[in-house]
Amino acid sequence: MGRMRKASRLWNDAESRRAATRVTVGETDGSEAFTVRLRGWFGRRAPLEVEIGAGKGSFIIERARAFPERDFLAVEMPLPVAKTLAVRVGRSGLPNIRVLRADARSLVAFLMPDLAVSAYHVYYPDPWPKARHAKHRLFSPSFVAGLARTLIVGGMVYVASDVKTWAEEMFGAMLQGGFITEAEPVPGVLGAGFGRKYAAQGRALFAGAFRKTSTASQPWADA
Ligand SMILES: C[S@@+](CC[C@H](N)C(=O)[O-])C[C@H]1O[C@@H](n2cnc3c(N)ncnc32)[C@H](O)[C@@H]1O
Repeated sequence: MGRMRKASRLWNDAESRRAATRVTVGETDGSEAFTVRLRGWFGRRAPLEVEIGAGKGSFIIERARAFPERDFLAVEMPLPVAKTLAVRVGRSGLPNIRVLRADARSLVAFLMPDLAVSAYHVYYPDPWPKARHAKHRLFSPSFVAGLARTLIVGGMVYVASDVKTWAEEMFGAMLQGGFITEAEPVPGVLGAGFGRKYAAQGRALFAGAFRKTSTASQPWADA
């Protein structure tokens, strides 16, 4: 409830709404089908990094500031979270970041073009530990196949979680999908909002960096 109230307070402020609208992509009035139009959204073609479940945007805003030669897409699903994210991104004034409200599972599985993304960032996705909630989980074989389809060869997926069993499950799904582990730092492990909070609480954090090789699973190629 708190976050809905906060989002609508932000939305009622005309300046915040203008800032958010400037960076929000993919809103249609229903008269057209939603399609991903990267060049139109960013006005150029540059290496693209996507954060799935960007929350308040703490990580991706700083990353976009640090890498002006790359483009960044921040994806969130619930409307109040997407609105708050868009206001924060809009207020940053950065030209290389856009906000998309979407279910990342459909985006990655069906909508994002082939070979379009150079890196995905997935930090602290909800673990949904109860069996009856498992349908809400992000990682599944089709999600991992979508990551492989949409990444360039050599592209990276960075994942972090504070839940060991969930991290093991996600990392296992990545390896099963043909990705290889890289021993390199995971950029958002401490920079993401939840990462900061968990680190301050002294929690153990589990992070993995996965590279798409030319042999990562390509089920679409068999279709
Ligand atoms: C635990 S929060 C972590 C947020 C952020 N990564 C951070 O570390 O601060 C998980 C986020 O994923 C978003 N999310 C969950 N399922 C999603 C989906 N299917 N598509 C897009 N975002 C999703 C939630 O709305 C939530 O903001």
